[in-house]
Amino acid sequence: MKDKIIIKRDDFIFAKKLLWKMRSKNSRFDTKEFINKGRDYLYNYAEQNVGPLDPSKRAFLKGLLIGIGVFAVASAIPLINSLNPQEIYLKTFPWMIIVDSNGNPIEASKIPVNDPAILLFEYPMLGDITFLINMGDENNNPVAVPPTEVLIPETGKTYHFPGGVGPYKSIVAYSAICQHLGCVPPEIHFYPPQYFKVGGTTPNYIPPDAYQAAQAAKAISIIHCDCHGSTYDPWHGAAVLTGPTVRPLPYVQLYWDSNTDYLYAVGMNLNAPPIMDHSSDLEGVAYLDGYDEETGCPKLLLKKGQAVTNCYTTLEDFGNTFQGGSS
Ligand code: FES
Repeated sequence: MKDKIIIKRDDFIFAKKLLWKMRSKNSRFDTKEFINKGRDYLYNYAEQNVGPLDPSKRAFLKGLLIGIGVFAVASAIPLINSLNPQEIYLKTFPWMIIVDSNGNPIEASKIPVNDPAILLFEYPMLGDITFLINMGDENNNPVAVPPTEVLIPETGKTYHFPGGVGPYKSIVAYSAICQHLGCVPPEIHFYPPQYFKVGGTTPNYIPPDAYQAAQAAKAISIIHCDCHGSTYDPWHGAAVLTGPTVRPLPYVQLYWDSNTDYLYAVGMNLNAPPIMDHSSDLEGVAYLDGYDEETGCPKLLLKKGQAVTNCYTTLEDFGNTFQGGSS
């Protein structure tokens, strides 16, 4: 069993929020400013984006940065995930409406097809980042993602993936935490058909074996992790195309309300491998801000235009990782 460092749950949540903000398009951490202004810039940044820094958080932040180096923000996330704060459990999966950064429900028919931008929401707990992808063909027409049985190479077992949702059954949601060692976006990201080429637009590190495996599976787009080369097939439940991972990316079950065009995250499949470093998808360290602990987020269908008061998870745009691309 691997060693784990025990840290305070509050510090863990703080670190997760900070790293999330550092990588967010709207509040990206400016490394040049950090070089110019030093640690004070980091402290100010943390206070502005996450909240007041008490002495304990300041000390934790200092220790964390000494440990990882401020430029290795990407590598910090698997490290943070390997820490071991006190765990809490959901009794059941909540129904959470997916909203934009202004709190307005997103509409399924407005999600761009084959968007190279990294769209992420958290579900079911804090830090459980999940891709939201509208799948399409080479001409960016939405294409239905069919139900399928997904093989877990590690165990030889299979589980059911129910397929895409939305007006064209083309919208899918998969964990954005690589099942190999936990790399997160932008290291793991979606390659739409226009970028899915060996030697294509940077950052395109697709090795020939991943390309061949995708062709054999008739996948015209993939999810690929640049850390060590794991490749997943978003057309077939994020099944493994190439290792080193031996586990598919777990999916989040979506519900599309055809009356409002709103999307809900409603559950996960407990027969699938759990989210990386989780003993169960129902386990985590903190509830999402929009989770209603009292009610446990019962099924909540909004009327068109109705304000969201609880049970929501926010979709964030992490920008287009491809060089020269715009999101
Ligand atoms: S962490 Fe993704 S391939 Fe290793």
